[in-house]
Amino acid sequence: MANILVTGGAGYIGSHTCLELLHAGHDVVVFDNLSNSSEESLRRVEKLANKSSVFVQGDIRHQAELDQVFQAHQIDAVIHFAGLKAVGESQKNPLIYFDNNIAGSVQLIKSMEKAGVFNLVFSSSATVYGESNPSPYQEDMPLSLPNNNYGYTKLIIEQILEKMALADSRWSIALLRYFNPVGAHKSGQIGEDPQGIPNNLMPYVTQVAVGRRESLSIFGNDYPTKDGTCERDFIHVVDLAQAHVLAVANRLNNKGCRAWNIGTGSPISVLKIKETFERVNGIQIPTEFTKRRVGDLSAFYADASRAKAELGWQPQYTLEDMLADSWNWQKQNPNGFN
Ligand code: NAD
Ligand code: UFG
Repeated sequence: MANILVTGGAGYIGSHTCLELLHAGHDVVVFDNLSNSSEESLRRVEKLANKSSVFVQGDIRHQAELDQVFQAHQIDAVIHFAGLKAVGESQKNPLIYFDNNIAGSVQLIKSMEKAGVFNLVFSSSATVYGESNPSPYQEDMPLSLPNNNYGYTKLIIEQILEKMALADSRWSIALLRYFNPVGAHKSGQIGEDPQGIPNNLMPYVTQVAVGRRESLSIFGNDYPTKDGTCERDFIHVVDLAQAHVLAVANRLNNKGCRAWNIGTGSPISVLKIKETFERVNGIQIPTEFTKRRVGDLSAFYADASRAKAELGWQPQYTLEDMLADSWNWQKQNPNGFN
């Protein structure tokens, strides 16, 4: 069993991953500045796991804070979730994204090197495939510049990590390219809790369902897809969390830098999400079609065969599970963790 440092571990994907790590018998140290999360998520994770973890409030951009964590704890591997993720905000304030995501990651790499910790799992995104690769995306396709600054930070961090592994054979790095994470733990105790107006589809749908928003706007119904709305590869957050447990185990036994897609491989349209949510949960979602959102790709989905072959990872949850679990979380926590 290993001692895992989880940056950004209080957030949506991080909290679910901490729970799966604790269930798998690992020890967990969470490092988070709580800029987009609350410590309550970790209290609930500990309760669900019936096991405690360590929480350190700190910022990945601050070297002394990171160094202190590595001095205080014997860390075997790091899972690096910490970062900002709002595409629109990254267009308005690129420097904040370059600083938090890129400079913060470089700082983490420096502290890891200093501490002699070389196993790292990084939260990347399907956005690194850029705008012109055909779906299903495969890991060895040429990457290209995403059309937004958030995606750009993911591509740059991936490239920095690849160069680190090339230059120094002690590194063992997993690049997990997430598709569209949705859903929540079955208990409904932890889930996605965006601040302000949700940018992403699923929390918007659940906030309409719970009465916090009036209606869902579907951005565009004139795309070249079956029903005219965009298609995405939605993946249950607990399946995604499991992929991290497997990736850590893989990295503790291998060297180099390797990328894995984490998606189901099935494209699902935005309209189908709305309709399936209504059917599974018995709630109507008032909806209007509005104009396309700038920067959205029509459709993309994963070829996840590499994760299956090399990590032994396969999604367990259905689309119905994703939508039932998202709603179960939101209805038990209408105002999130507040
Ligand atoms: P989240 O915002 O819920 O979690 C990120 C966590 O990092 C938060 O708890 C936040 O407080 C913390 N954080 C941010 N900046 C920090 C800093 N400078 N120092 C310390 N902590 C900091 O987001 P999430 O959805 O859980 O995403 C986790 C990771 O996965 C992110 O890197 C994100 O870019 C990536 N990702 C997310 C998605 C998605 O759709 N949710 C898709 C692809 C990739
Ligand atoms: N959508 C709506 N209405 C909404 C919100 C979203 O119709 O209120 C649509 C979008 O137009 C898109 C689909 O729902 O077609 C999914 O949108 P999300 O914002 O939930 O997710 P994206 O696919 O745009 O973004 C995701 C991740 C990013 C990542 C990106 C890669 O959230 O982190 O995939 O392209 F960078």
